Amino acid sequence: MRNDDAPLIRLEDYRPSNWLIDTVDLDISLHPQKTRVRALLALRANPAGEPGSPLVLDGDELALKALSIDGRPLDASAYEATPQALTIPNPPPHDFTLTIETELDPSANTKLMGLYRSSRVYCTQCEADGFRRITYFLDRPDVMSVYTVRLEAEKAEAPVLLSNGNLVAAGEIPGSGRHFAVWHDPHPKPAYLFALVGGALDHVRQDYVTADGHKVELAVYVEPGKAGRAGWALDSLVRCMRWDEQVFGRNYDLDVFNVVAVSDFNMGAMENKGLNIFNDKYVLADPQTATDGDYASIEAIIAHEYFHNWTGNRITCRDWFQLCLKEGLTVFRDQEFSSDERSRPVKRIADVRTLRSTQFSEDAGPLAHPVRPRAYKEINNFYTPTVYEKGAEVIRMLKVLIGDDAFRQGMDLYFERCDGTAATIEAFLACFAEASGQDLSDFARWYEQAGTPTIVASGRYDAAAKRYTLDLAQSTPPTPGQPEKQPVVLPIRFGLVGAKGDLPLKTASNAYAGDGLIVLDGACLSLGFEDVPEAPIPSLLRGFSAPARLELDLGDADLLRLFSSDSDSFNRWQALQSVATRALVTAGKPGADQKPLAATATALGEALDAFLKADGLTDPAFAAQVLRLPAPADIAREIGKDVDPEAIFAAHRSLSSAIGKALLGNMPGLSAALATSGPYRPDAASAGRRALRNELLGLAALCAPAKGADLCEEQFGAADNLTDRLAALAAMTLIPSERREVLIARFAEAYANEPLVLDKWLMAQALIPEPATLDRVKKLMQHPVFSLGNPNRVRALIGGFAANLTQFNRPDGEGYGFVSDIVIALDRTNPQVASRLLGSFKSWRMLEPRRQRFAREALSTVARMPNLSRDVADIAERALA
Ligand code: BES
Ligand code: ZN
Repeated sequence: MRNDDAPLIRLEDYRPSNWLIDTVDLDISLHPQKTRVRALLALRANPAGEPGSPLVLDGDELALKALSIDGRPLDASAYEATPQALTIPNPPPHDFTLTIETELDPSANTKLMGLYRSSRVYCTQCEADGFRRITYFLDRPDVMSVYTVRLEAEKAEAPVLLSNGNLVAAGEIPGSGRHFAVWHDPHPKPAYLFALVGGALDHVRQDYVTADGHKVELAVYVEPGKAGRAGWALDSLVRCMRWDEQVFGRNYDLDVFNVVAVSDFNMGAMENKGLNIFNDKYVLADPQTATDGDYASIEAIIAHEYFHNWTGNRITCRDWFQLCLKEGLTVFRDQEFSSDERSRPVKRIADVRTLRSTQFSEDAGPLAHPVRPRAYKEINNFYTPTVYEKGAEVIRMLKVLIGDDAFRQGMDLYFERCDGTAATIEAFLACFAEASGQDLSDFARWYEQAGTPTIVASGRYDAAAKRYTLDLAQSTPPTPGQPEKQPVVLPIRFGLVGAKGDLPLKTASNAYAGDGLIVLDGACLSLGFEDVPEAPIPSLLRGFSAPARLELDLGDADLLRLFSSDSDSFNRWQALQSVATRALVTAGKPGADQKPLAATATALGEALDAFLKADGLTDPAFAAQVLRLPAPADIAREIGKDVDPEAIFAAHRSLSSAIGKALLGNMPGLSAALATSGPYRPDAASAGRRALRNELLGLAALCAPAKGADLCEEQFGAADNLTDRLAALAAMTLIPSERREVLIARFAEAYANEPLVLDKWLMAQALIPEPATLDRVKKLMQHPVFSLGNPNRVRALIGGFAANLTQFNRPDGEGYGFVSDIVIALDRTNPQVASRLLGSFKSWRMLEPRRQRFAREALSTVARMPNLSRDVADIAERALA
């Protein structure tokens, strides 16, 4: 169906299902090309629906083989079956069973939705609407059923057969070479949480006893030969299960919890009840094939999918408009877990970087939408940074506003009251309103209003009266479909910083909530502080307490003082980012005077050199974050219009080099002191030391290329882990030279049989900021490891290129043409991956006119293609609107 014809689905049109399905008995006989599915559905009219309605079940590319009601085959005149729907106009007036037989070809399923085969493994992906590619069903999250699943397969081909819930029976089918397994999941669930896996898989396992005394068998399944790389995922699982008991009081609720890694997967991972299916990139880890970053993401994603068991599965979403109910909340939970396992400030800084680069940029462009969208054509296009990352920020603000205790009580109430239901944001917020006694109706605007608010702050000190006045105002720019904006509730954590740290806060105003928190819930606010002994520097939005832009007119000297003395680590980091951002925004405009940038570079260089000398070894992970400047894309977003990527890039380069030069003297000593001894360990402290060393290496490569290249080669040769090797490669990519090409070739040779490592190699090359990169990327598409059929390869090489600010946005428009051609080609086999790739165009409207023209042409070419998927057509249409 073309997008123009695709219906717009609206939140306000939600109606309960006319029918319910209490139980589902699936009998699935796996075969690479001809898989038979028999579904026995127990149907009953929904008392909350329209009485006497026809029964309309969803399908997607389905072929019906047989149909019966209460065991009797149905006459052809009594139903209509198309690939998209099964309609029974006059279903029986009583409860009945419907038996549906369909036949599937998992090997031909390149969309990787529904049942497919990935490297000889059968697996499923059903969220959001993939179950309808397996059988006709009421494929909506508010229809919850108890599933019993019998799987049958060739034993040699699929010795492992897994589904949701607990294993209740298994055995051979004598004389046939086939075997079966029966799984039962006692917890009613929507169809999107159904899963099966079949294949030859190795596993690692461990017993676990929950806090409430329930024994659970945990296992992580991987491709044969890879069990040695599954240990970290299993270890992470145990730790996050304990954490959820301790922090949220949540215990696991089945006898089995299985995680399976597959190599072709559209997303990162999926929380199917008791059977999480993962992109292998987020499971497999050993020191030779995974970086510190990979270890951290595996830990976070294992936790994320596990946490969904309560926030997503036990309590699911009434409809897909409520997606943030499970995703935003679960991202918040995984962020908290990682913060507790690692360093809270460093995790917060990393999360805010992601928020700004992905969500703020979404909010600033044509794809902006509220955390709870009001309408969609293709739900798969709404698994966005806004729903996920901003959704998590909303929960974080709620916690700040009502306090830790009320937040926990509200969560407890939510678990108690909504368990077993398909819930809404309203039901969720009601629990916190009740627990805190606060009216949250204004706060709820965060779910409805798109756009990133800007807070404008200014302060005045009256030395004679010892009074400090802080004026705050907020505004949100218009976004598509929302020209007028209302104020939102902004929790602003803050302090007034004096010469010797935070000053005491005394104010008469009731807008000040105490404990260093201001709640800005109107358009503006003026706060007076009394008995302020000296002129303070305001430190606002500590810990990034609200997802907003802050405009506060502090000079570089004040920001540098915050950097050295703010008690809030986040704002220490932010202070330096602000100095750099301001200088780059000014210098990054075409033809801008570069002298102020040079002055800033000197000041930053001195501050960083002093900081590293004093503190470089105290908290290297934090220091690494401090050294990392805002990315060129962040500067582009701040500039916001008429963006010239080359000018920004040049300014960014010159600032980085100057900082590098200032640090050069101290670098060898510091790098040596940071070296970790003994075998590689993935813990946060060791990772932090590597991160800082590698940050320094990158700066050396920029400002002293010859010496930098020596260091890269040296580190590449000496490294006993992928983190350091890859960092050496990445730093070397900044140095155009024959030596770079040699190192690139050595890397490929060393990891020739490791596609996941070669993904990093592909991406490192796709990110090279040079005009020759486009040809390099085209050539890499011919490399044996590359395949348009594998989402990880596409994301690494093509997605990497689309994230290359200067080369994707080449002045001749060739970058856009290349990516849009691939989107068109990929759309025929995998629309979801194609549409995500097309999302790379989301910031095209901020570019200077010439590039805008080329980008618009590329988008229009896509939009004009006949037979586009709904996924791609929807993005193209909204990006162009
Ligand atoms: N429920 C999602 C998986 C999903 C995403 C299904 C999109 C259908 C469409 C899962 O819980 C998830 O959020 N996965 C993330 C990783 C997570 C750590 C944010 C993903 O796959 O990117
Ligand atoms: Zn999720």
